[in-house]
Amino acid sequence: MFAVHAGPSHASGYLVRAAVTAPSPCNTQPWTFVAEDGDRGIEVHIDGTRRLPVADPAGRESVISCGAALLNVRLAMLHLGFTPVVEYFPSPADPAFLARVAWGAHQRPSPEVERLFGALRRRHTVRGPFLAEQLPPSLADDLRDHAHRAGATLDFVTGRAGRRDLAELVRLAEDAHRSRPDYAAEQRRWTWWPDEPRYDGIPLDIDATHPDLTTFPGRDYVGLTRMFPAPPQRRPSRTGPVAILGTDRDDPAAWLRAGAALQRILLEAADRGVMAAFLTQPLEVPSLRVRIRQTLSGGAFPQMMFRLGHPSCVRPLPRRPVAEVLRTPDADLT
Ligand SMILES: Cc1cc2nc3c(=O)[nH]c(=O)nc-3n(C[C@H](O)[C@H](O)[C@H](O)COP(=O)(O)O)c2cc1C
Repeated sequence: MFAVHAGPSHASGYLVRAAVTAPSPCNTQPWTFVAEDGDRGIEVHIDGTRRLPVADPAGRESVISCGAALLNVRLAMLHLGFTPVVEYFPSPADPAFLARVAWGAHQRPSPEVERLFGALRRRHTVRGPFLAEQLPPSLADDLRDHAHRAGATLDFVTGRAGRRDLAELVRLAEDAHRSRPDYAAEQRRWTWWPDEPRYDGIPLDIDATHPDLTTFPGRDYVGLTRMFPAPPQRRPSRTGPVAILGTDRDDPAAWLRAGAALQRILLEAADRGVMAAFLTQPLEVPSLRVRIRQTLSGGAFPQMMFRLGHPSCVRPLPRRPVAEVLRTPDADLT
């Protein structure tokens, strides 16, 4: 899948190519990696210049994205036959320095590692209705187990009332976002016409379907709802099961765990041909996030929400080149 060459910098490049396949809001890719001297390991830092100050003032979503990228680094090391040795927040004076991952002892990769690693490039975010196909019966339990092993919880919102309440909260958040000029301006900065040479953000032809076509409205990246306020026809049956990923705390360490849990879940699902469509809008509105915690996530701090299903098509989005995100030891990180 990824080419391996001998030599320290190549090993770091290999880890980083796996890391950057992680999801991030608006494809901001808010990370920087540092290859440690003598190829002892790799550092994962937040790139604060890529945070979304309006949608994500606390940087929660940036840390979740870096947590997913960090999980990918660990998977790539395991795939190469080494145990990752992770030190979280190694420099208390520098909160942007999230983790250091050193090469540990030799260890043959497990079948699970190989399955998840193999799904890295097959995982993509989906938008719009899914195919009518049922999900594999054991999938929900397996995904809960992944969340648990990463130190998080996964709750499926079952029952008509719960889904209706959540759909209402997503609708309220999406309406609020659509009416806020600062929000629209931020989103515009991270969207581009398909002929622009960009390696981050979201191309404007991403939304092949109307964002209000499913019961849970999608993010209106394109401003389609201003041109066509009502969708041609709702397709509630194609919405898929909805899940909330939660943590027992709400601080950077918990956000990092949520990112690892998210990525494990997404890769396990992708390995079985199932993808996620995200519904994170109400988590960006503090009052709505509190309501979700009180009524739908069993008291856990909700960190991510998504629907799951078989996609009719996927659209791989670009990533910044390794040379742009991987720094050498003496490069200036500020
Ligand atoms: C914290 C977070 C929030 C996200 N929120 C949304 C969202 O509300 N709507 C959406 O369509 N995608 C959302 N995404 C997915 C990103 O748009 C997607 O990861 C990015 O565009 C890269 O595409 P890929 O996941 O297909 O590689 C979110 C991702 C993360 C990590």
